[in-house]
Order: sequence, then C-alpha cells, then structure tokens
Amino acid sequence: MRRHIRFSEQENILILLDQRYLPNKESWFVCRNLREVILAIKDMVIRGAPAIGVVAAYGCYLGTLSLDPDDSEWRELLREKLSLLEDARPTAVNLKYVVDIMRGIWEREPDIGLEELRWIWLKKAKEIHNEDILTNKAIGKHGLQLIKDKKRIMTHCNAGGLATGGYGTALGVIRAAKSAGIDVEVIANETRPFLQGARLTAYELNHDEIRVKVICDNSAGYLMAKGLVDAVIVGADRIVANGDVANKIGTYSLAILAKYHGIPFFVAAPISTFDLNIDTGDKIPIEQRPSKEVTHIAGVQMVPTGVGVYNYAFDVTPNNLISAIICEKGVIYPPFTENIRNLLGS
Ligand code: MRU
Repeated sequence: MRRHIRFSEQENILILLDQRYLPNKESWFVCRNLREVILAIKDMVIRGAPAIGVVAAYGCYLGTLSLDPDDSEWRELLREKLSLLEDARPTAVNLKYVVDIMRGIWEREPDIGLEELRWIWLKKAKEIHNEDILTNKAIGKHGLQLIKDKKRIMTHCNAGGLATGGYGTALGVIRAAKSAGIDVEVIANETRPFLQGARLTAYELNHDEIRVKVICDNSAGYLMAKGLVDAVIVGADRIVANGDVANKIGTYSLAILAKYHGIPFFVAAPISTFDLNIDTGDKIPIEQRPSKEVTHIAGVQMVPTGVGVYNYAFDVTPNNLISAIICEKGVIYPPFTENIRNLLGS
C-alpha cells in the first residue's frame, strides 16, 4: 500500500489520504496547521489509534508554525494547543501517548527556543511515523505463530495500514501470514456506522491481493456456527492494566460469540495502546459520536425524524474473553495483569 500519511518538508504540509471517501475516491486532505490536523482527526479523515498518534506528532510540529518566537506568550499558547490536540478523540490512548512524548521532549529543555523545538519535533514526528511501521511488522511476526494453522480469519473495523503508519496491527498479522505463504481468507465485518470494514479493510486487502469477503455485522454468529471462522483478530484503542480492551463498537459482541463457539480471539496492538494508569476497562472514556452517523446512510435518512439513537464509537471487551494480546515485544497470554506487567514493566 502507498503511504497514506505524508509530510512534505518543501511545503511544510501534512498530506492525508481522506478515508471518508474510500473506496470510491482517493482524495488527499492537506493540513497546514494544527487546527486542520485536529479537524482531520475529529472528522475521521484519518482514524485508527496508531495513525491518529502519528498524525498528532506532525500536528505538534505544525502547531508551532503560527507562533512568533518574539512573543513572550508563545509557550503558553503552545501548551493550550497541545491540550486541544490531546482532546480531539478521547478513547484511543495513542493520541495522548504521542502528545506526552512531544511534551516530554520540551519539558526536558524548558529554555529551548521555538525554532529549535520546531526542528526537534519534526524530526521526532518522522521517527514516530517510521517506528510505527516497524512496530507493526514486529506484531505481524509475533502474531504469525498464533494463526499459522488458521486460514479463515474474521476481523472487525480496520486495524490495517490505513489505521497505522502503515502495514497494520491485526491486518499486519494477516500480511505476515500471507508473506509466509499461508493462503488466508479474511472475513471483514462491515462495521456500522462508519463502515471501516466494508470500505477500508476490504480496500486495502483487495489492493494487496489478500482474499477478503465482507459480511454484515449481524452475520458473524451464523458464520461461526457454520464453522467458517478459525480465529478472530482485532486491533485496540486502549488496553488497560488487567487486559480489558477498548476497540470499535461491536468488538465485545464478537468476543462473546467467539467464546461461545470455541474460536480464539486475538487482539493486536502496539505498546503505545497500553494504558497502565487505568486498572480496569470500565474506566476507559468511550467516545459518543454524532447521531447522524446512525440515522443517515450515504446522506439518506433511515431513522424517523425525532427518534434518538445511541452512537457509542467503542466498547470494552473484558480480559476473560481474550485468548492472547500481540504486541511488538511478543504474545501476552492470561493471566493478563501479571503478564502485561512482566512484559511491559509497571
Ligand atoms: O473510530 P476508528 O475508526 O478510529 O476506530 C478504529 C478502531 O477501533 C481500530 O480497531 C483501532 O483503532 C485499532 S487500529 C490499528
């Protein structure tokens, strides 16, 4: 897959493949300042926890451009910008993880000038971007051992190249399997309401010639009952200390279905998705998105005017439904509290 997040140093702009219009139109969204980066994140031009983190890193840099080094208030203004960025979407912890890295660099040298900070942040943003791709490849390599005898893999939402700096987490494991000569078939849940599965997972797998079939979300149980699913792999937006996982709405139901049918349920995510400051999943902030995403499909109203909806963008899968968590350091099995602490440190 081509790079969907690009930074042009000549023009000082961040260029994003606009995921709102895939698969029908490949158009590019240009961010010249932090305000446009925040808009891109809120409006789902770019989405997926690690991808949001990568873009946020470039956003920190872009946020410095409108500041004047001779203005005595530039530090205060920059702090405010970082807070706005951090709050753009609440559930994926990668956003806060990256903003904390950038803030940390600055705090270690509080007297640094704006020009120098700009330069250091841009360098760091590129590093975070490139490292994310390597991280995904490591996740793919570790995950391969879990699925080498499993050919029909169900996934939910899009945890692929488009959701990361490139390559993907859950789809990174699939890509690693394909490279190892395993003839995988991916069953992509369409993932209402934003249709990340139907539009994005199918788009990128199809592009890479990996076999994929899309199903309506409500077909998952029947396919499992018919023996058509060997394993489920999903990504994550936040994994807390006891191994509870926040991911796209519908993941929890899928995990229950997998448990009932005796199908392994794997979560693939980088260390930047772990939040060890939270002990259990019920404390994860869950984003609620505009009701129009549910009431309308492709601009056409499907729900009678005046009827309310629930539009939680994520849910929490309890650790007892998860067979293993794959990260770049290896595979973590239950008991998760102990094994996460052992692998990642407290
Ligand atoms: O609302 P989205 O599209 O940002 O939600 C994305 C997901 O839930 C992904 O599964 C998760 O971020 C992992 S992406 C590698």
